[in-house]
Amino acid sequence: APVLPFINEPLTDFGQTENQEAMQAALKSVREECGLEYPIVISGKAYETRQMLNSRCPFDREIIVGRVSSATPDLANEAIDAARRTFSTWSAIDADHRAEYVELIARGLQERRLELASWIIYESGKPWIDADADVAEAIDFCHYYAESMRQMDHSLEADLPGEENEYFYRPRGVAVIISPWNFPLAILTGMTVAAIVTGNTVVMKPAEQSPVIAAKLMEIIRATGIPDGVVNYVPGIGEEIGPDLVSSPDVDIVAFTGSREVGLEINQKAAESTPAHNSVKRVVAEMGGKNAIIIDDDADLDEAVHGVVESAFGYSGQKCSACSRVIVLQPIYEEFCSRLKAAVETLQLGPCDNPGTKIGPVIDQDAQEKIEHYLEIGQEESELLVGIEVPNKLKKMGCYVGPHVFCNVSTSDRIAREEIFGPVLAVIQARDFSEAIRFANDTDFALTGGVYSRSPVNLKRARTEFRVGNLYLNRPCTGALVFRQPFGGYRMSGIGTKAGGPDYLHEFLIPINITENT
Ligand code: NAD
Ligand code: ALA
Repeated sequence: APVLPFINEPLTDFGQTENQEAMQAALKSVREECGLEYPIVISGKAYETRQMLNSRCPFDREIIVGRVSSATPDLANEAIDAARRTFSTWSAIDADHRAEYVELIARGLQERRLELASWIIYESGKPWIDADADVAEAIDFCHYYAESMRQMDHSLEADLPGEENEYFYRPRGVAVIISPWNFPLAILTGMTVAAIVTGNTVVMKPAEQSPVIAAKLMEIIRATGIPDGVVNYVPGIGEEIGPDLVSSPDVDIVAFTGSREVGLEINQKAAESTPAHNSVKRVVAEMGGKNAIIIDDDADLDEAVHGVVESAFGYSGQKCSACSRVIVLQPIYEEFCSRLKAAVETLQLGPCDNPGTKIGPVIDQDAQEKIEHYLEIGQEESELLVGIEVPNKLKKMGCYVGPHVFCNVSTSDRIAREEIFGPVLAVIQARDFSEAIRFANDTDFALTGGVYSRSPVNLKRARTEFRVGNLYLNRPCTGALVFRQPFGGYRMSGIGTKAGGPDYLHEFLIPINITENT
């Protein structure tokens, strides 16, 4: 994997007038293109279906971002066949050449950077900086995996007199990529380019809420001149085509990012074997979280409040890394709650095409209803510290839920245990640091976690005792960067290794050893 210096793609500084104007122009032109239709693409051929996915803008439900053909199980199987047919030629291309294609994808993303951010704003309801970061992360994945592949592309030799030993990697075969809507470009790009740079061919199945941004990625992939059939774009309803994609005997690896329920189902289905199966599928599943930040009694509360608000309410809490529990030591509990309340009261909701918006809508009506149900549960189980009302004008236009904080939450409460995936934060009081760590670990998930403390002893304890995949000390628990913070959890948060880290490509490869008696 790349060693220092790996330079992450810089974020756009929207404080600069020219960047702000360029973004406004990109938004305007993307808005004019909303409503177009997009076909399925298999082996370079477009397929249109009668059933369409109507992708609606979360902050203005009147806007149809695009209408996308929705694959049937037959088309899903056709895409698998296409990927299977292309595998022998694609896997024979040398790794450096494959890495060049992936770098061309990065260049295509860079060239269309603000346009892509605009599609993310309209389709996924991300505020400007989150949409920009999504595109930057997609670019980082391309550069990082291209370079990683180059560095892995040599045989390890362990020769003795009379014996030559060679250890190297081969691609697995056909990869099905199933992605979520919340990092609609970054996660889809990351999983897809990891698969192709390692020599696999791909069936790319984006979330039904974000098929248009995936169609844009497909345009960029095709514009590189990559052979038809290496990547096949198969948007569709997960429940309808997912089972065929996952259980097909012609699929060798399923790389999934999404909810725990679907991840577990995929893991089970992929393990089933029939007489038609001749190998055991590899499953990479990155799933949900119920992430906690601990506030120690000596924490810098200015930093801590800012970090918690950022982690809990950035993109309306719709990040797997988001903080949904804050565990506060008893001596500073009251003061922390009062400062947190004041900070949350300043958060304003708004439409995401507006540069000033920090809190936009949630993804769709189903999500809104689910989160509102948890708000009712929270009122019954605990005490509402602060809840931001949605102005009537916004309520009529989009799927808004205001940030809500519940205090005096017990670790057994549902709002402290279940992934809500919205702007809802539970505050839990702990007697001491030991209890805080115990509460933090009292969940099935193990994705991200954070600690704000000035105590070297407690920070050291957290390093060994706080069981999460990504632990953040004295900073927010969201915003992992490729290479610097390889990202992924364990327990019910995931199987497989970390995206954007040194082991990730191994998931897509088979190690081979050849010995010759000379
Ligand atoms: P989801 O599980 O509902 O959907 C994810 C994908 O799975 C979609 O493409 C969907 O169409 C597909 N799918 C649904 N049913 C399927 C089935 N039966 N078979 C095969 N595929 C099926 O998740 P979501 O709502 O899109 O995303 C939010 C979830 O993703 C949250 O739980 C979040 O924590 C998680 N997530 C995790 C990470 C991570 O890196 N750990 C990153 C982002 C999101
Ligand atoms: N990688 C994303 C983050 O760290 C999920 O916030």
